[in-house]
Order: sequence, then C-alpha cells, then structure tokens
Amino acid sequence: MKNKNDSTAVPDTGHVWDDNLRELTNQPPRWWMVTLYLSGLFILGYFILYPAIPLATGYTKGVLDWTQMKRFNESVKQIEAVRAPFENKLKGMSALAILDDQELSTYTVRSVKVLFGDRCAPCHGVGGAGNPGYPILADDDWLYGGSIDAIQDSITDGREGMMPAFGPILSEQELNDLTQHVIALSQGTEHAVGKTLFEDQGCSGCHGEDGKGEQMVGGANLTDGIWRFSPGTEDSIKYTIVHGVNEPDAAESRQAIMPGFEKQLSEAEIKKLAVYVHKLGGGQ
Ligand code: HEC
Ligand code: HEC
Repeated sequence: MKNKNDSTAVPDTGHVWDDNLRELTNQPPRWWMVTLYLSGLFILGYFILYPAIPLATGYTKGVLDWTQMKRFNESVKQIEAVRAPFENKLKGMSALAILDDQELSTYTVRSVKVLFGDRCAPCHGVGGAGNPGYPILADDDWLYGGSIDAIQDSITDGREGMMPAFGPILSEQELNDLTQHVIALSQGTEHAVGKTLFEDQGCSGCHGEDGKGEQMVGGANLTDGIWRFSPGTEDSIKYTIVHGVNEPDAAESRQAIMPGFEKQLSEAEIKKLAVYVHKLGGGQ
C-alpha cells in the first residue's frame, strides 16, 4: 500500500537538519489556490465598483456611485410611496372621518406611533399610560373631554388648567373639612361640613357639585380615585388645595401645563395624533 505520508517523493528546499530533517516544498491544494485568486478578483472588482480607498481629501467613489445615504434615501422613498395613497386621502378628511374609516384609522395608529413616542411619551408615558403629574391618555377619565374634537383641541392649542391657591383664605378647620370631603368623594360618599364648604368656596364651579369635574375648565373628576398629583393621600390633597394648580404667583403651586403643538407639528400630524390618542382606549 502506498504511504500517503511518504515524504521522500516530495521535493525539498535543500535544507537538511539533524541528518534527515528536510524542509519540504509542498504546494497548497489547487482548490485553495483557486479560492485565493478568486478572492483577489472579488476585492479588485469591489474596489472598482464601490467606494473603497481613503485619499487625502475624500475617497475613491467607485463606478457604481453607491453611497449609504443614497440607499437610505431610496428606502425612504419606497416607504413614502407605500404611504402616499393613505396620506393623500387623510389630508382632506376630518379626524372624525378618519376614525370612522377602519382601514385609515388602522394605518394612522401604526404610522403615528413613533411621533407619539418622540413628542408625547416623555410626559404622558409609553402608549399614554401616564407619568406622575401627567394625565393618563389611555383611560376614559378626561379633564377636557375624550371626544375626537376635544382631543384635537388639546393637542393644537395646549391646556393649562388653573386652580387658585386656597391656602391664604381657608382656616385650618376648613382645610381639614374640605380635604375630608375630597377623600370621601373618591370613596363614593361625602363629608357633610366639607360638602357645604365645597360649594361656598367655589370648588364646585370647577369640579362640579357632585365632584365629577367640569371639562370646560379642566377641573379634575375627584370621584374616580385617579390622582393626577400623586400619591393622593391626605397630605398631597391638602397640598393641592393650599397651593393651587398653575398659580402664576405661587412657586409651590402644582404645575400642569400641556404645551400647544400648533407651531411644531403639521395639521395632518395633529389630526393623526388625535386619532391615535382616541384609539388608545378612552375615546368617547
Ligand atoms: C411637557 C409635557 C407634555 C407634553 C410633551 C405633552 N403633554 Fe399632553 N398634557 C400635559 C399636561 C400637564 C396635561 C394636563 C393639562 C392640565 O391639567 O390642564 C396634558 C393634557 C393632554 C390632553 C388632555 C387630556 C384630558 O384628560 O383631557 C391630551 C389629549 C394630551 N395632553 C395629548 C398630548 C399629545 C398627543 C402630546 C404629543 C403631541 C402631548 N400631549 C404632549 C403635558 C404634556
Ligand atoms: C378655577 C377652577 C378651580 C377651582 C375653583 C378649584 N379647582 Fe381644584 N382643580 C382645578 C384644576 C384645573 C385642577 C387640575 C386638574 C389636573 O390638571 O389634573 C384641580 C385639581 C384639584 C385636585 C387634585 C386632583 C388630582 O387628581 O390630584 C384637588 C384635590 C382639587 N382640585 C380640589 C379642589 C378643592 C377642594 C377646591 C375648592 C377649595 C378646588 N379644587 C377649587 C380647578 C379648580
């Protein structure tokens, strides 16, 4: 049988050590050489076709004139081409009409989600789930109303609910009674003395006689157990009553300012956001 490792048949370089240790000149296998030359050709082709070699000021551009930016712009164009028929349709429609159109409203929700994430989620939380001090948009508890028009108005013009600071005009006892009434309202009952004060002090003007809120002025619903100014404990309720909300002169006042987006976003974007918010689950 032929010894596959018989080295005497292989030519050597002439170097011999220790009597019989020869340096052989084995050629690499053919497939290996072919692959090597092919890769060389591939690199050459690549250098000719694509941007490759850095120069002092710039780089070789390649005959295809390919750039990452061009490729990116092409994909953007492709996406825009898919969106165009929808976007054109949306332009002439009211938010309400979009909402009524199953296909368009589904498109709207998907395409505007990123914008909501960029512009609204920092305050209202991902998917409108709310953050401490900022209203939840995904429930059916609305300060200004959950109709599509009210939502669109909120986004276009912004909102800034005002509640005066009652600290200076209430006695300690009155403050306690009012606080107890607010707590009672959230539990579905009422506090007799507090209830009278609630009307006498004008709380009912903004929060409604029954405490369910007045959407005209953004007066919160106090009966639902949902607290904007968390944690909604006796102390935090007292704080709101004493310092008010958005009181211009009081530094300790609660802040609740929704910026208007009329100048920052296009009308179409606002319309789409209104549909998105409405469809988060709480639209009326
Ligand atoms: C800087 C924080 C902030 C940003 C950003 C913001 N909002 Fe608001 N938003 C608020 C606050 C605060 C209120 C409540 C205002 C009040 O209490 O009077 C509010 C109220 C609202 C309301 C009314 C809620 C209700 O219960 O009636 C809607 C709708 C709304 N925001 C949608 C949006 C959308 C859509 C965006 C993104 C384009 C957005 N907001 C961006 C802070 C913000
Ligand atoms: C001029 C209108 C106005 C009057 C009067 C008013 N409020 Fe308010 N109140 C508001 C607004 C606006 C808010 C903030 C709603 C929001 O942005 O979530 C608020 C918030 C509150 C909150 C916090 C609710 C929460 O979810 O954390 C409490 C509690 C409250 N008011 C109690 C009272 C009491 C008690 C009185 C009477 C002493 C009173 N308010 C009078 C407009 C008013």
